[in-house]
Amino acid sequence: MARTFATLRVELGDRSYPIHIGQQLIDEGELIRPFIGAGQVMIVSNDVVAPLYLERLERSLEGLQVKSVVLPDGEQYKNLETLNLIFDALLENRFDRGCTLVALGGGVVGDMTGFAAACYQRGVDFIQVPTTLLSQVDSSVGGKTGVNHPLGKNMIGAFYQPRAVIIDIDTLNTLPDRELSAGLAEVIKYGLIDDPEFFAWLEANMEALRKRQPETLAHAIERSCADKAAIVAEDEREAGRRALLNLGHTFGHAIETGMGYGEWLHGEAVGAGMCMAARLSHRLGWMSAEEVARVERLVSAAGLPTAPPPLGADRFEALMAVDKKVQGGQLRLVLLKGIGQAVVTSDFSREALRELLEEEAGRPS
Ligand code: NAD
Ligand code: GLY
Repeated sequence: MARTFATLRVELGDRSYPIHIGQQLIDEGELIRPFIGAGQVMIVSNDVVAPLYLERLERSLEGLQVKSVVLPDGEQYKNLETLNLIFDALLENRFDRGCTLVALGGGVVGDMTGFAAACYQRGVDFIQVPTTLLSQVDSSVGGKTGVNHPLGKNMIGAFYQPRAVIIDIDTLNTLPDRELSAGLAEVIKYGLIDDPEFFAWLEANMEALRKRQPETLAHAIERSCADKAAIVAEDEREAGRRALLNLGHTFGHAIETGMGYGEWLHGEAVGAGMCMAARLSHRLGWMSAEEVARVERLVSAAGLPTAPPPLGADRFEALMAVDKKVQGGQLRLVLLKGIGQAVVTSDFSREALRELLEEEAGRPS
């Protein structure tokens, strides 16, 4: 039996959309049908998720003109070549401008499907059905879509909002533990940014989350989506406040790139990155040792690393400098004035950063 725990709304005027959170929602075609009308539907998935959930989603849309395209799985396929497979399927099946794309998968499938929807015939509707924790609490909400380029991650893309987000938390039952932990990094991020009460709730409930207790997962997803929806409603195109969502990401991207994509999962790098941001904030006198210890304990309890790999301080610094968050040659970081008090700033001591990197990443690899 399907069960809805919560329905939220991302408020963006006439582009506002609902986020449904529940169990077995994949079988609830009624949640998707209102956005489709009589149009054609293309479900986009990958070769790991499709065998698990595609048939059920197709069945729930019975009676509609539904086709599907199954992409190869993996971040290495998040590129223009794979994107073309979506366009091939749409054109071969003569899909018109009234069609709707449905993303069934994690962040890779969601980002690519959204970008395909933004481009196909100059823009068609799309719906997110995210199946990883990371995509349920972060990438399916907010309209960042795109693909990687050999010279940079997520460098080709568009802001393009979905018409609806359908989160079936039961899909997390097939997710590997390591991927669940990676998603928890982004959940912790919301508490650290501006929701200290949620951070404390996570401290009390991390074990239940890792055991995939449905009510606990639903609450964590709801609170994360509500926090993200509020930020996106205020600053859709990251002119200001939305940059807070990059907490831990500049350190994290340095780890991901430095280690080679695939070695560390994105969420693992963000986990260590948030701890580094906390420790740098402590060096700057902005955050107490006790608060840093709380951050490290929670990240560790989520099954994530709290320290970076030994890339070497010079290399780490150089990798941080190529991050997208560098503006006008100035490195901007999201740092903490306390738990629940994140700030975006380029006003910090470069010596303190250098000391941190020498201490934590200084050993040559
Ligand atoms: P992913 O999409 O690669 O999924 C991780 C793995 O889990 C894949 O192998 C996938 O096939 C598999 N999987 C997915 N659902 C499953 C399920 N229910 N059961 C079993 N296996 C399942 O990775 P992700 O962590 O979901 O997303 C990472 C991507 O999201 C990156 O490309 C990143 O750039 C992007 N991202 C985008 C935003 C945004 O705002 N658009 C935000 C954060 C991350
Ligand atoms: N994941 C960061 C953002 O959506 O802005």
